Order: sequence, then structure tokens, then C-alpha cells
Amino acid sequence: MLNEVFSGQLAVVGMGYIGLPTATVLATRGIQVVGIDVNSRIVEAISRGETPFIEPDLAVAVSGAVAMGRLSMSREMPEADAYIIAVPTPFNADHTADLSFIQAAAKQIAPKLRPGAIVVLESTSPPGTTEKVSRWIGEIRPDLRMPHVSGATPDIYVAHCPERVLPGKIMIEMITNNRVVGGLSTDCAIKAASIYRVFSQGEILLTDAASAEMAKLVENAYRDVNIAFANELSLITESLRLDVWEVIRLANQHPRVNVLSPGPGVGGHCIPVDPWFIVAAAPEQARLIRTAREVNDHKPHHVADQVIAKARRFVSPSIACLGLTFKANVDDIRESPAIEVVNLIAKALPEVEIMVSDPYVEELPELLNSNANLNLVNAGEAVDRADIILLLVEHEAFKSLRHTRHNGKVIYDTRGAWA
Ligand SMILES: NC(=O)c1ccc[n+]([C@@H]2O[C@H](COP(=O)([O-])OP(=O)(O)OC[C@H]3O[C@@H](n4cnc5c(N)ncnc54)[C@H](O)[C@@H]3O)[C@@H](O)[C@H]2O)c1
Repeated sequence: MLNEVFSGQLAVVGMGYIGLPTATVLATRGIQVVGIDVNSRIVEAISRGETPFIEPDLAVAVSGAVAMGRLSMSREMPEADAYIIAVPTPFNADHTADLSFIQAAAKQIAPKLRPGAIVVLESTSPPGTTEKVSRWIGEIRPDLRMPHVSGATPDIYVAHCPERVLPGKIMIEMITNNRVVGGLSTDCAIKAASIYRVFSQGEILLTDAASAEMAKLVENAYRDVNIAFANELSLITESLRLDVWEVIRLANQHPRVNVLSPGPGVGGHCIPVDPWFIVAAAPEQARLIRTAREVNDHKPHHVADQVIAKARRFVSPSIACLGLTFKANVDDIRESPAIEVVNLIAKALPEVEIMVSDPYVEELPELLNSNANLNLVNAGEAVDRADIILLLVEHEAFKSLRHTRHNGKVIYDTRGAWA
């Protein structure tokens, strides 16, 4: 059983940035996979072999898996030998985790379960969530021995396997990253690991479910705290009239120092969200983690304030904002600090023309739509016409604009792309 490799029917619940690549790598390695999503646009697109978002190497793998008949889509939960839950885990207004998507998925899976089935939670979750999944299923299926109560071999194996892939490199990292598989019992971990053995070339580390849940949160809190250090440095150096990029470059000459790069804030689906789950779980103890969140959340306001102050020195300025996504060279705009910065500037300066440019964004995000002074234009035009150029995302396409056509313009490079 220890080195078992899964070979049955598998359902992936939630076919987004994590679920779709996971379903696809399993399907391309011979597993019969059904993808489930509540969003009919996603179900229809993937059924046609299309990929609803940009991720290198994913589109060809999806169309191949669909064409081979290995990957199909449904809105209805099927009977399967294993289920992977990859639904969102946003936070509530009080920063606690919103587990309603996971609960809904568990309730949909429960009626379909047969003894011997495996349920793996991949969604990033606070400690104890995998056990809740087992409880939620147990409430609907009292006929099944669930692992949170049963000391003996359970009927259903429930485990957590967090995902730590980097958007932009998901298809490589999904195969090569080490995986942590935390079971509600040892058997649960071993059974769940058999799924990842189908495609993973990394090490598969078995542990308990709560440690696996916490390890994932710790990874993102670690990143957040280190980015907060860089962001705080950028404020300190600005007040001391020093160049933060030069200071960091010099400090990083130390063999055991690796200061990260500052930016306009922290975005994406994970890093600005997950540390709050730790703060909510241990509010008294998690003081540094909370402060890091506050430092990073403050940074978009600081950048906007600086640009607004610069604009007020002009009679009739125009501003170019380069980049809207949360990081370079991806089309993901979730929790993007760049969007927040642009919105703050546009609201504070309603009479000022603001040109926004991002090669990965075809229409203005909803938050920005209500600003009449905002236009999406190409980067060349924005740079040519603007008095103030604000670089928010270091997309490859923007790097080539360095030092060209910038004469006499105010440059605010939040990413050090032109440093
Ligand atoms: N995106 C990343 O880089 C990343 C990395 C590591 C971990 N995670 C975690 O993975 C989880 C999923 O993230 P994502 O980025 O793939 O989210 P996503 O929003 O891209 O995809 C989630 C999908 O789940 C669907 N969904 C919601 N409720 C459903 C239900 N009851 N049944 C079926 N489908 C349902 C949504 O329609 C959506 O398509 C989250 O917990 C996230 O924190 C994400």
C-alpha cells in the first residue's frame, strides 16, 4: 500500500488556477478525470478543450486531454474513486476563512461516496478544516465510517494536500515540487499520496492533516513577512532620500542575506489572504505576521499618495499607469495592489487623465470601471503622452520601454524594473 499508485476514476471539484492544471496532469497520465465547476462558462470552455486563463503549456495539455477523452466536464458530481477539492478559500470581513465553498463541495461529494473512496482537500485552509470536511460528509453519510471518528480503518480516506505552485510555472512546478500530504490518519495520508504518485517527481512527505494545513499557511506568511520587510525598507529609504534598490543590492552581497524586492503592495490569491488564517487561529501570538500584513496592505496607499502629490505639481497632468496584474507576466488580477493604486489615484484626481496599460488585460477590471478619467491604452501611447509614468508591474514588455521616450517625465518605478 505504501508505494501504491492511484488508478481509478477521479473528480476535481473547482476547475480554476489549481484544479484545471491538476486535473490535466492526471488526465494526461492516463487517469479518467471529470472536472466539476459551478461556473457554466468554465464548464463549457474546458469541454471545448479551451483554457479559460493564460498559463504556459496548459492550453495544449488541456486540449489534448479533452481530445483523448481523458478529461471531461460536468456540473453534476459524479461517482468516483477519488475527489480533489480545489475551490476558493477567501476570507470574511473579520479575516477569518470563508469555508462555505469547501462545505458546499463536501456536501455535494457526500451522497456519491462509496467505501474505499479518497477525498483530498487542496484548497488552502486553516488548521482543522480537513477534519471539518470529514465531519460534514459524516453528517450526510452516517452509514460510512469517517476517519475523524473511527479508530479502525475508515470507509473513506480524507487528507489535505496543499498546493504551492507558482503562477506562470504551474505546469512545471506541479510535477517537480515536493508534496506534503496530511491525513486524518496514517492510512488516509498513504491513500491520498497514491494520487500524487501518478504525476509527481518530487518527494511526497506524509504527515497529519493539521500540520499540512499549517505548513502551507506558514509558507505564505514567510513570504509575506519578508516582502513586508522589503516594503518597509522602501519607505525608510524614501524618507532618507536613499535608493532602495542600491541599498538592497549592497546588503544582499552578504552571503546569508537575501532581502526581497519591494513593490506597490502584495497581491494574488494566496499571500495577502493566508497569513490572516494564522492570525485568526492564534491572534495573541501572531503579532509579527499581523504587522507584516498591515505593512503590505498600506503600501498601495503610500504609492498612490506619492503619485497624487507629484501630479498636483502640474497644471494639467496626465498619468500613465503600467501594469494591472498582481505580478509580472501573468494575467491574474486577483487582489492586485496595482488596481488598488490606480483606483486610489483616479478617485483622488477625477479631473486628471489616467492612461492604464497592461499587455495581459483586455478590459478595465470592475473596480476601475466607474472612473470616467481612466482609459486602457497601449503602453507606447501611454508613455509618450504622460507627464508621470508609474510602473506597477514589471512585465517583460515594459522592460524594453526603459529610458526611451522618458525625457522630462516624472518616473515612479515601484518594482525597480528600470533601476
Ligand atoms: N492560484 C494559486 O496560485 C494557488 C496556489 C496555491 C493554493 N491555492 C489555493 O487553491 C484553492 C483554489 O484556488 P484557485 O486559484 O484555483 O481558485 P479559482 O477561483 O481559480 O478556482 C476555483 C474554482 O472553483 C469553482 N467553485 C467554487 N465553488 C464550487 C463548488 N461548490 N463546486 C464546484 N466548483 C466550485 C469556481 O467556480 C472556480 O472556477 C484556494 O484555496 C487557493 O488559496 C491557489
